[in-house]
Amino acid sequence: MRTIRLNNGVEIPALGFGVFQIPDLEECKQVVSDAIVAGYRLIDTASIYKNEEAVGEAIRESGLLRSDLFIASKVWIHDTGYERTKHAFADTLEKLGTDYLDLYLIHMPFGDYYGSWRAMEELYEAGKIRAIGVCNFNADRLIDLCMNVKIVPAINQIETHPFCQQTQILETLKEYDIRMQAWGPFAEGRNGIFGNERLTAIGRKYGKTAAQVILRWHIQRGVIAIPKSVHKERIEENFAIWDFSLTEEDMTAIAGMDMCRGMILDVLDPSEIHRVYAIR
Ligand SMILES: NC(=O)c1ccc[n+]([C@@H]2O[C@H](COP(=O)([O-])OP(=O)(O)OC[C@H]3O[C@@H](n4cnc5c(N)ncnc54)[C@H](OP(=O)(O)O)[C@@H]3O)[C@@H](O)[C@H]2O)c1
Repeated sequence: MRTIRLNNGVEIPALGFGVFQIPDLEECKQVVSDAIVAGYRLIDTASIYKNEEAVGEAIRESGLLRSDLFIASKVWIHDTGYERTKHAFADTLEKLGTDYLDLYLIHMPFGDYYGSWRAMEELYEAGKIRAIGVCNFNADRLIDLCMNVKIVPAINQIETHPFCQQTQILETLKEYDIRMQAWGPFAEGRNGIFGNERLTAIGRKYGKTAAQVILRWHIQRGVIAIPKSVHKERIEENFAIWDFSLTEEDMTAIAGMDMCRGMILDVLDPSEIHRVYAIR
């Protein structure tokens, strides 16, 4: 498995498996098991996905050493603040059945995330978390956070796909040595992405699907991708991306697909903020 070195020296798999919108615990356990068998070692969950127990069961039954896996989870908005985050973290560990996390992220740039960050810094220093980071932080909030904390985030997990390439924020992230992790790496299938002509034409040259081309594009940009699927054959397809590479010309063609805005979440839209706060 190809890995990427984070700003604290921790190695993270360049490709992981996401489990958002898999509320059925049996199904979640099954697909995480399938993903591990296919070769994924990074599993991305969150307390708000309400499937941490299922992820925990799958990793325990995998027969792998805990240290062979890279487990990430997130603190939800209603658990922000120093004390609440400490409790939420303990709850996440219990549900996952593990005594440490490889990555713990602030899920949204809302609430008392500074309080959360102080708790996360302490947990990091106590060896309970190997790397800490944020999600959905635009450049302004990210720079402000970096200017006021002891430990700079290792990761910003943000909506990133060919229609929303986040090129501007990528520059800020490079400046602070923070890695971008792409959520919604396939735009959750929106805009006909899997049948997109440009992507399928590129894939045809290598005997690959649009999905595989997209993942390869993320990796070649130095972005960690965490695609989700509940279908075994797609889980395997999405992992079969190590035997080809995109040319400069392919990368430029994909760069031309950028619509420069999120299609799934806009943290600057007031109605979105209300929507997200209502999720419990
Ligand atoms: N931090 C955040 O705020 C945040 C937000 C959203 C997501 N995330 C994380 O990012 C992960 C990935 O994002 P996402 O789940 O939103 O969306 P995504 O990975 O972009 O897209 C998932 C969709 O693509 C389909 N799909 C997957 N592989 C396919 C293939 N090879 N061919 C055709 N269709 C395919 C899936 O269908 P099937 O499942 O039916 O196969 C599903 O409908 C999440 O699971 C979660 O871990 C984080």
